[in-house]
Amino acid sequence: MTPEFYYMISDSLANLSHGEQDLLVKFCRELPPWGTVVNLGAGNGCSAAAILSSRPDLTLFSVDAQKESHPLGSLDGEMVSLKRCGLVPTDRLHQIHHNSQDWHLPDNIKADIVFVDACHDEIAVRADFANWVPQLKAGGVLMFHDWETTGGFLLDLVKDLPLIALERLIRVFRV
Ligand SMILES: C[S@@+](CC[C@H](N)C(=O)[O-])C[C@H]1O[C@@H](n2cnc3c(N)ncnc32)[C@H](O)[C@@H]1O
Repeated sequence: MTPEFYYMISDSLANLSHGEQDLLVKFCRELPPWGTVVNLGAGNGCSAAAILSSRPDLTLFSVDAQKESHPLGSLDGEMVSLKRCGLVPTDRLHQIHHNSQDWHLPDNIKADIVFVDACHDEIAVRADFANWVPQLKAGGVLMFHDWETTGGFLLDLVKDLPLIALERLIRVFRV
């Protein structure tokens, strides 16, 4: 899979920049084999396309409260993009129709990476943080999109977490 496949989605739907997609790919490629990545906010599939393109062995859970096509994004919208990239069908993707703030991974699974890009209001972002930090492996990677909008809500929560990367609207912390 060449980068142009996942760039194709950000070029037309613009939820993430090329650099942001590349950063997702970089962190996915650094994982040990058979990693688990959680994407909060399916949107238009920019993040999922990058994650699934990064390597053949990881499992992606993509969580969205909206199932049917919607201008702000949905599971169906994500699926359309993944089809354009030739990334589906695959048993590596689990689309979860649920609120990201209270959905839990199956028992015995913890995430290597959680990419937070669902509801951007303060109560929701704080709830995502509270729900997902305990579901990360020790040393796991917590990535936020739209940090300029949401980061101010979280400064108290992330103050003890090392910031390990940044790219445009993404901030990445080690948990
Ligand atoms: C900015 S878009 C995500 C963009 C996506 N990461 C991409 O790269 O295309 C935000 C998505 O979050 C979803 N969403 C909003 N509130 C949510 C919630 N409470 N739980 C889960 N998903 C939610 C919206 O339906 C929308 O699809």
